Amino acid sequence: MTTIVSQTATTNLLMMNHLIVPLQTLLPPPCLAQTADTNDDELSVTSGTNSPSPGSSAASAPMPNTDTDDNLAGNAGAASDNMIWSIPTGRQPVLFNFTKQTGTEPHLAELLREEPLEMFYFSLINDSIFQYIADQTNLYATQVITDEADVKGTSRLHNWFPTDKNEIKNVFGLLSYMGIVKMPNIQAYWSREAMYKNSMASKVMTRNRFELLLRMLHFADNQDNPGNDRLHKIQPLIDKIVHNFKTSYEPSETCCIDESLIPFRGRLIMRQYIRNKRHKYGIKVFKLCSKGGYTYNLKIYAGKNLDQGHTTPTSVVMSLFESILDSGRTLVTNNWYTSVDLAKRLMDRQTYVFDRHIA
Ligand SMILES: *[C@@H]1O[C@H](CO)[C@@H](O)[C@H](O)[C@H]1NC(C)=O
Ligand SMILES: *[C@@H]1O[C@H](CO)[C@@H](O)[C@H](O)[C@H]1NC(C)=O
Repeated sequence: MTTIVSQTATTNLLMMNHLIVPLQTLLPPPCLAQTADTNDDELSVTSGTNSPSPGSSAASAPMPNTDTDDNLAGNAGAASDNMIWSIPTGRQPVLFNFTKQTGTEPHLAELLREEPLEMFYFSLINDSIFQYIADQTNLYATQVITDEADVKGTSRLHNWFPTDKNEIKNVFGLLSYMGIVKMPNIQAYWSREAMYKNSMASKVMTRNRFELLLRMLHFADNQDNPGNDRLHKIQPLIDKIVHNFKTSYEPSETCCIDESLIPFRGRLIMRQYIRNKRHKYGIKVFKLCSKGGYTYNLKIYAGKNLDQGHTTPTSVVMSLFESILDSGRTLVTNNWYTSVDLAKRLMDRQTYVFDRHIA
């Protein structure tokens, strides 16, 4: 697979590089120090290199891995024939203007004017989302209890009664509390022994009820499983939350895409290991973030086998950016994502791209 890059694309790339100049002020000092050392050898990508094209490079390495961050020969090295990266000189034309009003969506900002800051959180994870979780949990409980019609008379399942959104909020409240106040096991949070100094959990709900709710907690209908989607149990919930992320906030002119790892050491086929992250094991999430750290969009990495075609660097960027293309924004990427192909596609959709390593 080869990418054919026209003369116009070359010109566009030169203009993209020009944009690096004002953007350098955004970079932390170490990057600027690197910039000073940059020489033409590192920047130029000429025809005749053996680098694979962006597509095939992505297929053989669909795993962005910060281990390779120092290596300039990532996707940035995967150039097509006759492409030369260089630093443009002189004034370059402004191709697109950014005119969006950024920040909290005005209607929401008005609603929250008199409210405490944390109410912004409840506009992202709102009551209808808690209701959705309650509904899915009740549905699953019905399925389990029907399946196990012959459960023994003493089974705790007989104590099940439907939950509601307020009780689900309490479950998440307790789970958050358990993340802050660590005890050796769940039972300990309900222990009456003086050494545990418990006063929280038993006021919220009984231990039996909490354990039963944890057992039933569901975010989607198991019977809707399409068979080849590893995320089917969580994706419907993520879609709702991300919808709210997107409608609540207009991201800044400059956005970035990167991965983060949600720490997780349990058994899971798509668990990832990244050597130089503080938490090395976890679930990888591709994120599109605005200045200030707001997550505008995200995509959970489900493993390369099932997700091929959706986790190539270019397709990750294009799908995360989809709803804010054509607005004159600038995307900051790293060398795992950068490619001539990506730059071309983004320029076609009025979006500049800026690689923080090449700069
Ligand atoms: C961008 O804005 C400037 C200043 O308002 C204007 O001169 C220029 O024509 C605009 N460029 C585009 C591509 O819209
Ligand atoms: C709550 O979130 C849901 C799911 O994203 C959304 O459809 C709904 O409009 C939101 N409700 C309010 C009142 O904002």
